[in-house]
Amino acid sequence: MKKTLITILRNRNTSLEQYRQAADQLATVLAVESDGLVPKATFFVDTPITRTQGEGYTQKPVLVPILRSGLVLLPSFMRFHPGAGIGFIGTRRDEKTAIPQLYYTKLPPFSHDNPILLLDPMIATGGSAALAVQILKSAGAMEKQITLISFIASPEGIAHLKKECPELRVVVAQVDEGLNDQKWIIPGLGDFGDRYFGTL
Ligand code: URA
Repeated sequence: MKKTLITILRNRNTSLEQYRQAADQLATVLAVESDGLVPKATFFVDTPITRTQGEGYTQKPVLVPILRSGLVLLPSFMRFHPGAGIGFIGTRRDEKTAIPQLYYTKLPPFSHDNPILLLDPMIATGGSAALAVQILKSAGAMEKQITLISFIASPEGIAHLKKECPELRVVVAQVDEGLNDQKWIIPGLGDFGDRYFGTL
């Protein structure tokens, strides 16, 4: 299913409606796949008939989309974790140097053992994600509690993150071939945010 959805996202002829639908569906698949990242415990529950063993979350995750494309993942994760803390980290990349600049941070209160799900559909150089991890750590997060959730990553981005943030976990639907000279992911899908939000 992930490959089918990514193929729709890659196709330059995909309409805005189809693009949004595929992106939202892929976000839901990743939200389900990431379920193991949020700690659970077994407990007893009373049905109308009898008592049985069930399972429930013992912690609320903190969801942190990296603006603006990370916003696309947020509704799917909120659906499964309606009580989650939600923060925002805004980075924009300098189009010439591809170096990310931080322009906005707003984080909810969290404790050091809350799982933090950092949401960003595209990992190109890995620079924005590494910067976001630094921001979260300066706000008191432990790196090993942070997981980056993404649609497509470049091998260069993954290598950069491994070096800069060795304890960060990464959940990614597809690792692509690499980056071109302008730091676009190849084959990739173009500018994810512009295609999703219709700002091409
Ligand atoms: N961001 C995108 O949207 N696409 C890329 O290829 C790289 C970064």
